[in-house]
Amino acid sequence: MIRDVLRMGDPRLLERSQEVSDPRSARIAALLADMRDTMRAQNGAGLAAPQIGVGLRVVIFGVESNPRYPDAEPVPYTELINPVLMPLSDEMEDGWEGCLSVPGLRGVVPRYRRLRYRGVDPAGNVIERDVDGFHARVVQHESDHLDGILYPMRVRDFTRFGFTDVLFPDIADAPE
Ligand code: NI
Repeated sequence: MIRDVLRMGDPRLLERSQEVSDPRSARIAALLADMRDTMRAQNGAGLAAPQIGVGLRVVIFGVESNPRYPDAEPVPYTELINPVLMPLSDEMEDGWEGCLSVPGLRGVVPRYRRLRYRGVDPAGNVIERDVDGFHARVVQHESDHLDGILYPMRVRDFTRFGFTDVLFPDIADAPE
């Protein structure tokens, strides 16, 4: 079921989400199905449970070719529960981000370029991956949602924060 996505200003987006005690429960399976439907309907690169009003540490992400991110490298579709992130170096990289909870805007955000992430999938299997670039960026963005952090809070250069259709007129037709 497609759910409403909370928008910036809603206090629920600023809360720390809770650990999932049973990743294999029917409740989590139903949550993930709704998250998947909602992300796909909105053409998002990722979605975190608190964005649909559920304060649990669950994120999904994945990019094949996404009209919202025409230059992004593909990221495999992943359902990640209780994620933990470990940077693999201090190196930071600037890149454009958007968010379904901040519709119509994009901003440049510094993120760790390389990291390891670990969590479990809804079958209870451990997921552990070393990633870089856009994949690392997406995981950091989604995990931030679980700690009540929205990407505009990480923007440092506000000359590179603005409306998508003004910044990128060529992709103005892209679905939000
Ligand atoms: Ni977001």
